[in-house]
Amino acid sequence: MNIRAETSPLADELKVNTGRFTDKQFDWNAFPSNDGFDELARAQMRYIGAGGSPKVGDTSTLPADNFTLSLIYKEPGRYAACHSHEIEESFLIIDGTLVVGWERDGEVVEVNLGPKDMILNAREIGHGFRVDGVEPVMMSISVDVGKPLPPVYHYHPKEHPTELARTFGAVPGKTLKFDATGTHPLQQLMAKYVIRHAEQPTIWEEAGFTRKVYVGDGGLEHDTCRKEMWGVPSRVGLKPFTRSVEDAFLVLEGSLTVGWEENGKTVEVELGPRDLVKTPAGRSHWVRNDGAGAATVWHVIGTAEDDGVVYEAT
Ligand SMILES: [Fe+2]
Repeated sequence: MNIRAETSPLADELKVNTGRFTDKQFDWNAFPSNDGFDELARAQMRYIGAGGSPKVGDTSTLPADNFTLSLIYKEPGRYAACHSHEIEESFLIIDGTLVVGWERDGEVVEVNLGPKDMILNAREIGHGFRVDGVEPVMMSISVDVGKPLPPVYHYHPKEHPTELARTFGAVPGKTLKFDATGTHPLQQLMAKYVIRHAEQPTIWEEAGFTRKVYVGDGGLEHDTCRKEMWGVPSRVGLKPFTRSVEDAFLVLEGSLTVGWEENGKTVEVELGPRDLVKTPAGRSHWVRNDGAGAATVWHVIGTAEDDGVVYEAT
């Protein structure tokens, strides 16, 4: 760890709230409903909460307040059967391309998502995903409550032929391509929940870094959390800020130092790709890029409300 050598309760707490990619392990048995179905195989790395997995007792996972965050890895040719939840769930693609299908009444709309694209799966909508590309997919999944209920399966290969499960419940001729200007009601619905990284406006903050808002004001509307992609140039740092809720920084590219302050004491940790820090509500914290290259960072904030934070450069 790069946390300063001296030990203190604050340093210990920052260490506990840091999820290191190299300290964590992928779990190939996170989803019992996939047992016995090689075609559904996927691995989960839990950072905050259990996500869709029933493995809520994992002590290497940070407890969730308003959102969970995990990585999911899936290999080419594999898929996830169509299911729904009572909560919303976001898929942020990190590597590879992922086909996500939404099903209603036997019709399916499929969207192909690339790196840094995101879909927010709406409440109660049947959704599945499939890796049609040649590369494995790495993505980050967040659900916006600590303990989601188990998913309800609509077209699981246990009960349906594999060909139908692979297409999320669409028989031949019943699959539509995603089209944001399409006329089908399911296309129109999905269009409200898909974010293309390249199509989102880049906001240059006066503090010298960029934000693309995925969920929140300027992005998708949502009632529980905000999600943003930050670009932090080399040598840019922010003054300490405090939120009324927890937030998380997950580095995708480059490196980012996260610092905490309490009662005049400060501690910092440098994060690399796929490392995360979760900062609890009320804790004064900051970020800074000490590296030569820009950092690309996924930022999740545990409220949909504007929390009044103004970012200032150091
Ligand atoms: Fe889901």
